[in-house]
Amino acid sequence: MPASVWLTAQTSAPAQRADRYVAGSAAHPAKMLPAIAAQAIAHYTAPGDLVLDPMCGIGTTLVEAVRTGRHALGVEYESRWAQLAARNVARATQRGGTGSGEVYCGDARNVLDLVPDEHHGRVALVVTSPPYGNSLHGQVRSSRETGERGVVKHDYRYGSDPANLAHAGTDGLLSGFTRILAHCRHLLRPGGTVAVTARPWRERGELIDLPSAVLAAGEQAGLVPAERCVALLAGVREGRLITRPSFFQMKNVRTARRLGLPLHLIAHEDLLIFTAPTSHRRRRAAQGPAHPPMHATC
Ligand SMILES: C[S@@+](CC[C@H](N)C(=O)[O-])C[C@H]1O[C@@H](n2cnc3c(N)ncnc32)[C@H](O)[C@@H]1O
Repeated sequence: MPASVWLTAQTSAPAQRADRYVAGSAAHPAKMLPAIAAQAIAHYTAPGDLVLDPMCGIGTTLVEAVRTGRHALGVEYESRWAQLAARNVARATQRGGTGSGEVYCGDARNVLDLVPDEHHGRVALVVTSPPYGNSLHGQVRSSRETGERGVVKHDYRYGSDPANLAHAGTDGLLSGFTRILAHCRHLLRPGGTVAVTARPWRERGELIDLPSAVLAAGEQAGLVPAERCVALLAGVREGRLITRPSFFQMKNVRTARRLGLPLHLIAHEDLLIFTAPTSHRRRRAAQGPAHPPMHATC
């Protein structure tokens, strides 16, 4: 399988987001680096194409698509993030983006039911990342800021609804994600592309190899693995990596090393690229009742 390295963190995440996102967006615990979405969109689509993120969070994929003249659809389970995604899309169009975007609030395991029929079989690119690894998420306030002892963690949860796949456990997450990819396959045009970012994490010392599991999920969903790329979370200057770890990544690595486990900081996400088979019957998956769709207000 071909592999390549994408320079996606030459500037920091806040610099990449600049003032493109409405207030409140920073609270999402696991936003995609905008450059990952932007490079995937530039590489695999042309202006006017349709891009989908079935787990769109605050809408990074949609914002990058709209900015560059693509049309974008997003699905997000939590209404708090779906509404922010819709407002971020509106901001992108107000600021000269020539594409358009629509956000649906609902369960992406039923994304075929959420996305209007007119778009079925027309999506050129799916860009998404599954929710995972609470231990890596969140922001901190120091005792100087809070007046309390020790650091205080905040903004580390997607929401409290147990149906959010973030709370489903690894098996539930993978079966849910496989179903989402299977639905996406029917939304894609023949030969369309799926780009999924994922990172491994550790649970009680055990490595959870999410990227390999995502590869298996894609194949099970009927997609064809095409590339395994590296999307850097670190900048490259004069041939050296400039890492930008979060507080919790640093803390976890330091703790592991103190215990004799030779962990390294993760400086990239795996970017798994699949293609939709070039000829397939667009069969609607007859699976379970749909979560009621709700359009987030734009
Ligand atoms: C890793 S985050 C995606 C972040 C997004 N790429 C961004 O930049 O904002 C995964 C998202 O999936 C959402 N999610 C979890 N279960 C879902 C489901 N069943 N259907 C749709 N979205 C879901 C979570 O609420 C979370 O916002």
